[in-house]
Amino acid sequence: MLIENCRIVSNESIKVDVFKMEIYCPSMLTIASAGQFLHLRISDSYDPLLRRPLSICSLDTQKGLIVLLYKVIGKGTELLSKKRMGDIVNVIGPLGKGFPIYKDKKTAIIGGGIGIAPLLELSKHLNYPDIYLGFKNDVFLIEDFKGYSRTFYLYTEDGSDGEKGFPTNMFFHNIDKYEIVYTCGPKAMIATVKDICEENNVECYISMEEKMGCGIGACLTCSCKTNNKGKYKKVCIDGPVFNSKEVVFHD
Ligand SMILES: Cc1cc2nc3c(=O)[nH]c(=O)nc-3n(C[C@H](O)[C@H](O)[C@H](O)COP(=O)(O)OP(=O)(O)OC[C@H]3O[C@@H](n4cnc5c(N)ncnc54)[C@H](O)[C@@H]3O)c2cc1C
Ligand code: FES
Repeated sequence: MLIENCRIVSNESIKVDVFKMEIYCPSMLTIASAGQFLHLRISDSYDPLLRRPLSICSLDTQKGLIVLLYKVIGKGTELLSKKRMGDIVNVIGPLGKGFPIYKDKKTAIIGGGIGIAPLLELSKHLNYPDIYLGFKNDVFLIEDFKGYSRTFYLYTEDGSDGEKGFPTNMFFHNIDKYEIVYTCGPKAMIATVKDICEENNVECYISMEEKMGCGIGACLTCSCKTNNKGKYKKVCIDGPVFNSKEVVFHD
């Protein structure tokens, strides 16, 4: 884990309220892996006080860049979206445990909305997984994912792009094809993917999101319930990636 002041190389809106930011941090990049996250200090003042966690979306080793993809939802991400090329952002990272990589297995990736962020770097390290992406309406980054996929499935809720519906429907139909599944996205989607995988004895890895404070295991803000006698784990250091069998969504 490093703490660095990183230079913003670009920070542009790619869809309404969705931004792609590139930061120059070559030393952090060399120790980072798919599924880990960065904790960004948003402002030089104490408002907002807490850092904001963002997943590593992509690593550009040639240029020394870490690419982040974020949705503007509140004060922190709004302030982040105002940052310009050349601005400096203080970053702690890489943090957490990333995705285990199974290159020789038949794999599928299922992502929804802004939850696709940690899945792009992952898709580069697998052997052409099938990729299922779902969005409400506005799609983004699909060309990047297509290039790493064996078969690419796109769904929108209103049918404005790809097929109308949810990616989990087709995934359910194809489940027999896979040995390992990776997912990140809205809770309802990842809970469905977990159920489908477990009913079919397919190993599944989920990237979890919880509100975070410290990001380094010291404050308990990010605790999530596990299957181990209801014990809690910390998403920031035990995750954010968990085997689906470890995490509990329904009580
Ligand atoms: C491991 C991890 C990786 C993430 N990766 C991404 C990503 O790649 N792209 C992306 O757009 N978002 C990601 N998120 C969610 C992102 O951190 C929140 O959207 C962001 O912190 C919201 O901050 P805000 O000030 O704009 O919103 P506010 O709602 O004003 O935030 C208030 C507080 O709640 C926390 N918070 C609010 N929503 C979330 C949330 N969903 N998860 C965690 N904390 C939250 C904030 O950190 C802050 O402390 C990730 C979250 C986690 C835990
Ligand atoms: S955010 Fe503090 S323990 Fe996880």
